[in-house]
Amino acid sequence: MTAAHPTMQAICLRRLPQGMPQVDDFELCRRVIPVASEGQVLVRTRWLSLDPFLRAQLGGRYAAACPTPGDVIPGYGIGEVVADRSGRFRPGTLVVTTTGWAEYAAVGADQASVVNAGPVSPTLALGVLGMPGLAAWIGVRKILEPKSGQTIVISSAAGVVGSVAGQLCKAAGCHVVGISSQARKCEIVTRDYGFDACISHRSEHFARDLHEACPDGIDGYFDNVGGMVLEATLGVLRQRARVVLCGLIDQYNRAERPPGPNLGPVIAARARLEGLVVHDHLADLAQSRRELQSMVQAGTLRYHEQVAQGLCGAPAAFIDLLRGEHVGKVLASMGVQA
Ligand SMILES: NC(=O)c1ccc[n+]([C@@H]2O[C@H](COP(=O)([O-])OP(=O)(O)OC[C@H]3O[C@@H](n4cnc5c(N)ncnc54)[C@H](OP(=O)(O)O)[C@@H]3O)[C@@H](O)[C@H]2O)c1
Repeated sequence: MTAAHPTMQAICLRRLPQGMPQVDDFELCRRVIPVASEGQVLVRTRWLSLDPFLRAQLGGRYAAACPTPGDVIPGYGIGEVVADRSGRFRPGTLVVTTTGWAEYAAVGADQASVVNAGPVSPTLALGVLGMPGLAAWIGVRKILEPKSGQTIVISSAAGVVGSVAGQLCKAAGCHVVGISSQARKCEIVTRDYGFDACISHRSEHFARDLHEACPDGIDGYFDNVGGMVLEATLGVLRQRARVVLCGLIDQYNRAERPPGPNLGPVIAARARLEGLVVHDHLADLAQSRRELQSMVQAGTLRYHEQVAQGLCGAPAAFIDLLRGEHVGKVLASMGVQA
């Protein structure tokens, strides 16, 4: 490569994962640093957002195209504007955009939104104040519509979406029961996020534990996982209960879609199930962010972040996320000095 075509590091797809991804499904690669064309900005990536939807995308089950071997791994991140051909950004501005797992990205200026972090960490724009926070906010405010005294169950309660959804329901005066995998994570769910109880979906008595935690049934369920957890939770719905269908992580690693849950209890409970796609609600991003940021600053919305070091740390951190080994938002820091 000549000096006229300076290169950067990136993480590329080596082969499509079968089942749980392995670190060697990914590889470090070099690519020419892209050049911003008219209407674009060139950003230098500062943090990568590691998100469960990437596994769905790598299985061809996501709205965006499935990458092929040799492609840079797609994804969101925070980048610093280094060149602007749109007239909209000053160099040095931090933006959330589709950086992919690469040191630099050229993106349409309309695909980049400024990080107005104020006194909080800019990384929150990828977590509680970003797409996951918006998904939680929409699911709670527009679908669950929780009322004081109601009982709400939230799966993947230690994750970004689940923890924000649960804290919003607590703020509305609900009795909130979380579901997670491990005692260590359940402790964070009750101690740090203020849920009233947390049960493990890995317990062999999961369905019984759920009944015991919600003896009078539930008014709402925020589902981040699908599968057996969804099926068991449908069994405790009260009349006119509402269910937010937000994520299906239970099936992201499966080649075949499993048979659906038995929906008889939904009919019996006259319940309402509604699918949520966060990208339909971008018009609400500013309002949700204002509200969630003021809660963060007031100390009434708590969060955890786990930050892997460097591009090369991203594949293992992504796999840990799918395995549930992390707590809170998982990021990779590119190690560029401010
Ligand atoms: N619909 C939308 O627009 C939208 C937007 C954002 C996110 N989502 C979805 O929302 C969900 C949560 O996203 P997030 O970013 O906050 O991730 P997250 O909850 O922080 O991370 C994923 C968690 O899923 C749990 N999990 C993994 N496999 C599982 C299984 N087989 N059964 C039960 N739980 C399992 C693990 O938690 P435990 O260790 O606690 O089991 C893991 O930590 C994901 O499914 C994501 O795809 C949807």
